[in-house]
Amino acid sequence: LDDTAADPFEIAQQAADDIARISGVESHDIALTLGSGWGKAAELIGDTIATIPATEITGFSKPALEGHVGTLRSVRTPSGKHVLVIGARTHFYEGHGARRVVHSVRTAAAAGARTMVLTNGAGGIRETWTPGQPVLISDHINLTGASPLEGATFIDLTDLYSSRLRDVARSVEPNLDEGVYCQFRGPQYETPAEVQMAKSFGGHIVGMSTALEAIAARQSGMEVLGFSLITNLAAGIQKTPLSHAEVIAAGQAAEAVISDLLARVIGEL
Ligand code: 6GU
Repeated sequence: LDDTAADPFEIAQQAADDIARISGVESHDIALTLGSGWGKAAELIGDTIATIPATEITGFSKPALEGHVGTLRSVRTPSGKHVLVIGARTHFYEGHGARRVVHSVRTAAAAGARTMVLTNGAGGIRETWTPGQPVLISDHINLTGASPLEGATFIDLTDLYSSRLRDVARSVEPNLDEGVYCQFRGPQYETPAEVQMAKSFGGHIVGMSTALEAIAARQSGMEVLGFSLITNLAAGIQKTPLSHAEVIAAGQAAEAVISDLLARVIGEL
């Protein structure tokens, strides 16, 4: 994937072939990327058919961080749908190019998935939000300066976070708030001034993932649903300093409730 002469879609097809060979599942319907705090969802969605270390699949990087599992799973829902659960996210802040960041999304598309569910742990800009609260992503602002697209690929991003799928989510959980997700490069958290900038731009959520992946999902023709777990309020909104430990702890505390929500939403897709 670092070789710019190589075709990232061919590599994604090889990865999808690896998954089909190892899992015995020829085609998947839905893909789900688990961000921090969302990890328990995999068990609640249905029966695990196969658990595959990311290192056995073409093009996947080594897992980087605590709280990020490093495995893909093929899960069968009670209604018989096959869900590819991606617990091996590559973050842009790790210094990999956007190609590596979106490889799992392209692999999911090559594996047959028409729906991409993206989840993350993120900071909230809205003062009324509380840590542990899940919110729907309604749109994004890509502040990374990067794109997974190469060359003259002028794709439309209207309704990128499908209003149809957001309605499905709200049919399961009517009180879900929603907001605009701002992807920063990271890995440092934002300054209070950067948070104010994001707010003035129309942003409500700050994080370090998801937007590049959503763009790649749209390019591959998938319908996208996005959830953020608000693990903390963003710098300057919350008066105390942010810490990675706090973010992980908030994710763990919310895990059971939000994973159950996610499993119920997947059941309706
Ligand atoms: Cl405040 N910012 C970013 N970029 N990512 C986060 C976060 C904040 N809190 C959790 N993840």
